Amino acid sequence: MSRRFPARVGVLTGGGDCPGLNAVLRAVTKGCLQAGAEVIGFEDGFQGVIENRSVRLDYDSVSGILDRGGTILGSSNKANPSRYYTGDDERGRPRFEDVTDRCLEHLEAHGLEALVVLGGDGTMTCAAPFHEHGVGVIGVPKTIDNDVVGTDLTFGFQTAVEVATEALDRVHSTAASHHRALVVETMGRNAGWLALHSGLASGSDVILLPELPFDPNVVVEFVERRARYGKRYTVLAVSEGAHAAGGEPVVSKTDPTSPDPVRLGGVAAQVAARIEEQSGVEARHVILGHVQRGGRPCADDRVLSTRFGHAAVELLRAGRTGRMVALQNGAMTDVPLTHAAGRQRLVPTDHPLLDAARSVYTCLGQELPPELPAR
Ligand code: F6P
Repeated sequence: MSRRFPARVGVLTGGGDCPGLNAVLRAVTKGCLQAGAEVIGFEDGFQGVIENRSVRLDYDSVSGILDRGGTILGSSNKANPSRYYTGDDERGRPRFEDVTDRCLEHLEAHGLEALVVLGGDGTMTCAAPFHEHGVGVIGVPKTIDNDVVGTDLTFGFQTAVEVATEALDRVHSTAASHHRALVVETMGRNAGWLALHSGLASGSDVILLPELPFDPNVVVEFVERRARYGKRYTVLAVSEGAHAAGGEPVVSKTDPTSPDPVRLGGVAAQVAARIEEQSGVEARHVILGHVQRGGRPCADDRVLSTRFGHAAVELLRAGRTGRMVALQNGAMTDVPLTHAAGRQRLVPTDHPLLDAARSVYTCLGQELPPELPAR
C-alpha cells in the first residue's frame, strides 16, 4: 500500500537568516504542491507558531524568490517554545514558560501533519520536542557558520565565503598601498569555517580560528618578519570566536532573555591594537558583520538549497520524519533531528585545510611559519 503524503505541511525559517532560505522555501512548497499538499508558512520562526501567525504559501508566493536574500517568512532567534521569555519577575529576573502545548494547539488548528523547519542547531533544538509530541518534523540545515552537526555543508555558507573573500581581496590593495596590517573579522560563532575558507581563498597571510587559540606574540612577530622581508603589509582573516591561548572569546553583547544569549565580536580591534602597539606597523580593523548574511545566494547555494528542499519533500513522501536532511561526501542523506540539536560542528584541529594553509606560509597564530625563501 502506498503511503499518503501529508495533506497539510507547515514550514518556518528560524534563527539568524542567511542566503538560500527562500530557495529552500520555494523547493519545499513546489514539491509539496506537486504532491497535492497545502503549505502553511509560519512568520518569524517559532515566534509565529507561538503567536499563531501564518500565511498560506501557493505557487505564486514562492515564484521568483530563488535568488532573493533573506526569508519571505521572516525569522527570529528569540523564541524557544520550551523556554519562552514572558517578561521579568518582580526582582528584574527573566521569567520563562513552556508554551509547547500552545504551539501544538496552533499546529492542530491548521490541520498540519508535518512541519519543515529551516534553521541551525538552535532551531533543531526548538523543533525536537514537537517530534516527540507526534508532529512529523523535518529539519533543513541552515547557517553561514557551517557548524551544524551531521552535514558537511549548510546552505548560506558558500555565499558568505564569497562575500568574505571579496572583502579580504579588497583590503589587500589598500593594506599594500599604506603598508598596514588589515585585520578582517568574519562571523562564525565558535566555529572557524568561514574564516578558514575565506582566508584560504583570499590568500590571507594570517588566519585565526576559535579552534586554534593563538599567541599574540607570534602574530606580531610574523607581521614584523614580513615587513623585514619587504612585505610591508599583512592581511589577517580572524574569526569572531578566535581568542588568545588561555583567554576567552570577545563578547560584544549578552541577552539573558534570548535562547542564544551571547553575541561575539571585537577580537579584530584587539588584534589590530596589539600589532600597532608592539610592532609599530600601522593597523586597521574591519568587522564584516551582517554583510556576510545579506543579499543573493550564490549559484552553489541555490543548487544546494533546491536539493535540500527536494530531499525534505522526499522524506515527507517516505513518511520518515524526525530527520534532518544532510549532505555527506557529496551525497544527499539524512540524520536524526536530535543529532544536530544543541551541538556545533567545529573545525577539527587536524583538518586537511589547515595543512594546506601552512603549506603556503600562512600563519595560524600558534607558531611562526617557516622562514620565507632567501631571494
Ligand atoms: O549564527 C549565525 C550568526 O550570523 C553568527 O555567525 C553570528 O555570531 C550571529 O549569528 C549573529 O547574530 P545576530 O543576527 O543576532 O546578531
